[in-house]
Amino acid sequence: MCGIVGYIGNRQAAPILIDGLARLEYRGYDSAGIAVFDDGRQDLEIVKAKGRLSELSERLNGRRLSSVVGLGHTRWATHGRPSDANAHPHCDCSGAVVVVHNGIIENYLELKEDLIARGHSFRSETDTEVIAHLIEEFLKESYDMETAFRRAVRRLQGSFAIGAICKSEPEKLFAVRNESPLIIGIGSGENFIASDIPAVLSYTRDVQILNDGEFCVVTKSGVIISDIDGALVNKDVMKIQWDAKGAEKAGYPHFMLKEIHEQPRAVKDTLSGRIDRKTGDVVLNEISLTDQQIKAISKINIVACGTAYHAGLVGRHLIENLARIPVEVSLASEFRYADPMIDESMLTIVISQSGETADTLAAIREAKAKACRVLAITNVVGSSVARESDDVIYTWAGPEIAVASTKAYTTQLVTLVLLAIYLGRRRGLVSLEEAKRLTDELQRLPGNLQKVIADNEENIRRYAKLLRDCESVFYIGRGLDYAVSQEGQLKLKEISYIHAEALAAGELKHGTLALCVEGVPVIALVTQKKTREKTRSNIKEVKARDATVIALARESDHEIAGEVDYVLWLPDMDDMLMPTMLVVPTQLLAYYTAVERGCDVDKPRNLAKSVTVE
Ligand code: AGP
Repeated sequence: MCGIVGYIGNRQAAPILIDGLARLEYRGYDSAGIAVFDDGRQDLEIVKAKGRLSELSERLNGRRLSSVVGLGHTRWATHGRPSDANAHPHCDCSGAVVVVHNGIIENYLELKEDLIARGHSFRSETDTEVIAHLIEEFLKESYDMETAFRRAVRRLQGSFAIGAICKSEPEKLFAVRNESPLIIGIGSGENFIASDIPAVLSYTRDVQILNDGEFCVVTKSGVIISDIDGALVNKDVMKIQWDAKGAEKAGYPHFMLKEIHEQPRAVKDTLSGRIDRKTGDVVLNEISLTDQQIKAISKINIVACGTAYHAGLVGRHLIENLARIPVEVSLASEFRYADPMIDESMLTIVISQSGETADTLAAIREAKAKACRVLAITNVVGSSVARESDDVIYTWAGPEIAVASTKAYTTQLVTLVLLAIYLGRRRGLVSLEEAKRLTDELQRLPGNLQKVIADNEENIRRYAKLLRDCESVFYIGRGLDYAVSQEGQLKLKEISYIHAEALAAGELKHGTLALCVEGVPVIALVTQKKTREKTRSNIKEVKARDATVIALARESDHEIAGEVDYVLWLPDMDDMLMPTMLVVPTQLLAYYTAVERGCDVDKPRNLAKSVTVE
């Protein structure tokens, strides 16, 4: 995710900004930049570069920027590819207002059109640049910078943390937070703003954390915080005890746990701007297929590896259910050598968090060689998968650092729900009412994910002790529950090194039931209404053999509690949305089991985050 650093004080700002950005590098980024108010020239100077911070430092080399106030940013591309022009900071037409921003401005297109009509010209493809031009508009009306900033922010929809500086008031930093983190570092004769605590830890341990809707005006001698209506806010100063490494993980012991907890936010970001606020319909402007082409699709091939492949298994159910297009899901490593029977009447969907997986890239080339159009779902803007595909839908999970994929998977699932509704709508099979019902449910997902974690984490810690010394764990389910079982078993295997296997519950008595003996843990996923009774029968089969059953069930499914050893509860939602919640307890179970076994959770043995070789 992007990083923000702002400085105001008596020292040279540029090296402090670069140092702060370096401490946010762990968040991932594809370009970086700084803006400083150069006291000598009485002007704002912006220096930015695509690539690593070293590229930016190289551009700064030899430049004598004498400045004690500035803003810095590392960008993880969402709107617009990684490039010098799209890197932050961004400025207005006159160069008098400079902003940096994390998050997504959902209504930026309509704002941009309006600003262009008023004569503004844009230099980037980003959503962020509209903020600088909006402020410029209000400054023209003779407001001071704080009022212009507030008025501009009032026009924005979406999630954001914004830092701004203005040539006419160079002794102030302006900032606001709405659903994207922002902190203030309190120094002596100097102050900071940042998107995360590590950025300021070398300079101060005194920090204030802004809440949603709070603004601040920061000078070198003080900070004034106010709420959305301008009322002053008194805020405690926290003393940070963590070291820099701990702070990168926001106090979590591992990136994986942090990323599991980030899922409500990641899902919200991925949905952002993709549901029409008025009609409730799905908006996927990134798809260039015409309605005619969508109606003519004879078959969809979903191709991916590992966790992304498991997301594809869920996607198959969703697309077949809503858009009535036959779907085949293939492992990319198999697909590329199978001489697949595909042609121009079909659509290939590739899914990849990193966008750099070698087998997935080979699958794209195979599909294109057979004249089959490729739609990619990926988390990395400008990645090889994105560049080589015909259309791209980005998941906005932010960088995933732990090798075990968590928030990438849940954001892939919500993207697939959106896509399935979209295809169903274009094919005339999903009514607007039905689309609205589903998108209303989708909007409830972030809150429900929060609840799943809050309600179950403590119990899962205890159940992990049961799994700690097991040789094998089985996951059973049917339909969508089976698809999620496959992701659950992979999670356990890859980080705890316990053998695990997912089974379509109906297959048990065709062989594996022989292994379900006293004390063997069976994780039973039973959220799908259509197959609930059948899975309950399978649970009885394993219980009759004295296996230990942990069920993952709907809150309303009271009967289950009496039939199994332990239950993890999930809020009731439409069957198609259950997988996104259902996977979370399986992630936590794998995580706490691995911790119990003393495994290196974030970097499991023999595995790499991005598999760029065959
Ligand atoms: C899952 O936890 C793994 N990290 C792995 O299976 C991963 O999903 C797979 O290698 C595919 O990676 P991609 O999504 O970056 O293409």
